[in-house]
Amino acid sequence: MLKQLKEDIQAVFARDPAARNTLEVLTTYPGIHALLMHRVAHELWNKDCKGSARLLSSFSRFATGIEIHPGAKIGRRFFIDHGMGVVIGETAEIGDDVTLYHGVTLGGTTWNKGKRHPTLEDGVIVGAGAKILGPFTVHKNAKVGSNAVVTKEVPEGATAVGNPARFIIKNKPADDQEARRRDYAASIGFQPYAATEDQSDPVLDGMRVLLDRLQQNEKRMNLLCQRLSLLDPTFKSQQQDEQPYSAEELKIIEDVRRECETQSK
Ligand SMILES: CC(C)(COP(=O)(O)OP(=O)(O)OC[C@H]1O[C@@H](n2cnc3c(N)ncnc32)[C@H](O)[C@@H]1OP(=O)(O)O)[C@@H](O)C(=O)NCCC(=O)NCCS
Repeated sequence: MLKQLKEDIQAVFARDPAARNTLEVLTTYPGIHALLMHRVAHELWNKDCKGSARLLSSFSRFATGIEIHPGAKIGRRFFIDHGMGVVIGETAEIGDDVTLYHGVTLGGTTWNKGKRHPTLEDGVIVGAGAKILGPFTVHKNAKVGSNAVVTKEVPEGATAVGNPARFIIKNKPADDQEARRRDYAASIGFQPYAATEDQSDPVLDGMRVLLDRLQQNEKRMNLLCQRLSLLDPTFKSQQQDEQPYSAEELKIIEDVRRECETQSK
């Protein structure tokens, strides 16, 4: 227990530049107080002293503003900075070296019994005010931006931001399909500002679907023109293929491009 406390205090020094000395951390960090009380409450919960466990966690909430259900499983070197308004549900599981800021909720979305709260793997950081709701996993070293609302599994190392959260996965190589989409978007005059492979956003996803559908339709039209020109040699399929965009079409493309650019900023 003492070894664990020492580790928890070291975690504060590692993750809060404002921490000055051990006495200060022990006496003024509500995250440490809540964690200490939770470790005792969790032991009581596991030993089937459920009433005492709930009493202790209620007292902890009163004293620190942090509500951790005694059934929640918490790993080593857990750090809650500031703390006020944090809620951690009964079936939440937290790995090692996880950091939460104030106002974070690890909550459920159902009243059914069983696993209903999230699992946070090692090294996850959750920004102030973020809500992670449901029995899914936030994988290793993922970050959740402040005020994000996350309702789906977060991949390893990803950053989840916004409401509903979109995922940003840095340094992911573009796959063949994405490269083809980019080439096509560029060929019809779009600069693929918004269609990057590293963002998951409903608008961008919609744009991808439209680009794919547009390309398919264009292929079919070309094929149709070729067939027609076989039936009717006067039909100038070549001209149809290469018909340039009108000024009005170009203006629309430019407007969409500008809108995408603004949204991806
Ligand atoms: C998410 C966070 C961890 C940054 O992670 P990161 O991987 O370094 O991400 P980046 O800073 O590269 O930002 C990536 C994109 O997400 C956006 N973004 C970052 N945080 C965001 C947030 N909380 N909400 C919405 N968008 C956010 C950025 O603007 C950027 O957008 P862009 O690619 O269009 O420019 C950080 O922004 C955050 O929210 N940290 C929590 C800090 C906190 O709660 N502090 C409390 C101290 S008291």
